[in-house]
Amino acid sequence: MAGSNGHDGARPVLGVGMVGYAFMGAAHSQGWRTVGHVFDLPLTPSLAAICGRDASGVRAAADRLGWAAAETDWRALIARDDVDLVDICTPGDSHAEIAVAALEAGKHVLCEKPLANSVEEAEVMAEAAERAAANGQLAMVGFNYRRVPAIALARRMVADGRIGTLRHVRAHYLQDWLVDPAFPLTWRLQRPHAGSGALGDLGAHAVDLAQYLAGEPVTGVSALTETFVRERPLLDGASSGLSAAGGGDAGTGPVTVDDAALFTGRFASGALASFEATRFAAGRKNALTIELNGSHGTLAFDLERLNELSFHDHTEPAERAGFRRILATEPEHPYLEAWWPPGHGLGYEHTFTHQARDLVTAIAEGAQPHPSFADGLQVQRVLAAVEESAAKNSVYTPIPA
Ligand SMILES: NC(=O)c1ccc[n+]([C@@H]2O[C@H](COP(=O)([O-])OP(=O)(O)OC[C@H]3O[C@@H](n4cnc5c(N)ncnc54)[C@H](O)[C@@H]3O)[C@@H](O)[C@H]2O)c1
Repeated sequence: MAGSNGHDGARPVLGVGMVGYAFMGAAHSQGWRTVGHVFDLPLTPSLAAICGRDASGVRAAADRLGWAAAETDWRALIARDDVDLVDICTPGDSHAEIAVAALEAGKHVLCEKPLANSVEEAEVMAEAAERAAANGQLAMVGFNYRRVPAIALARRMVADGRIGTLRHVRAHYLQDWLVDPAFPLTWRLQRPHAGSGALGDLGAHAVDLAQYLAGEPVTGVSALTETFVRERPLLDGASSGLSAAGGGDAGTGPVTVDDAALFTGRFASGALASFEATRFAAGRKNALTIELNGSHGTLAFDLERLNELSFHDHTEPAERAGFRRILATEPEHPYLEAWWPPGHGLGYEHTFTHQARDLVTAIAEGAQPHPSFADGLQVQRVLAAVEESAAKNSVYTPIPA
């Protein structure tokens, strides 16, 4: 299927079709638009068609974001001959249906996180991905923070043994856009659409990063969750990403997801982890921080300073040891060879370019891209165990392998 849509010069074309055109739709479009101009790719992605339910809205989005065609039904998008890969940027309630249909139609799939709204849905998706892989169609989950150069560097350093035996992982993902109780009841606050709250939205990223950096899965958790504001104004305007046109006189409705989730966990190796996910941390805008402590040292990262990685080498003599700031902008650092001179810095949007680069490369090579749907299912199992533990007075809840 890769490159079935002709050639662009010497390179076969990979036709991309995207569903959803708001926050992630814009971010992924940026990635697809830029990737072929920054990286030397084996396939040339083309922005074939974008899909949304509102005809005039999706047409305007196609023009604004650079897509050749617009569709109002995702089934029609999947059926298009010029679409080789379906990129799912919708809320979690539609991920499973779209992804399974796309894979069964012989398309590659990129699906936003969390993979699904339940373990059951994620299992169906992972099974569909496994069947499709046997026919050469590949599926990946959009845990884009793996593509921050400093995070990819941290993974390389852990794998190289630079922090030794892992003892602790401390992962926090903090935002503050729900502090105002007048913020309206968008889909992110409704379980049927979002699956869970801060847990699935933010905690999913923290869990994926912790497992990716540690190189091993979390095997059990003990959790607390809370919904601080249980009733919110109904949305009477549009919403996109983390913003919404205010709740007016339309009444109120119940918040049916968690506002915050705190949990501890164990890794198979015996290392311990602690996690915090909230949208009520006033002043914290997009503070995804993760620290790993090992027998030989510590690595620490903060998404609000994403070009930097802190490293303490505990094998150095005490009189000289201490944290040092690695500015992850050298050509030797992951992804950086293709970008700007040292010190010129990358941002949030580049993670989507890197995500597209890694997926296109894997498709061209016929290699399974990561995070796979199986990886996404494993994260979903951690999220489900957190909810189960929180519902049972924080009882330690093992995660099935
Ligand atoms: N990787 C990240 O950093 C990150 C950040 C934000 C959101 N996300 C994830 O991306 C997904 C989308 O979130 P968002 O913030 O972009 O939401 P959003 O509300 O900004 O956009 C959702 C889009 O999906 C469209 N849509 C919904 N149902 C549809 C359907 N059945 N058919 C066609 N279009 C449909 C909406 O019209 C809208 O265009 C979620 O799974 C979310 O968890 C990931």
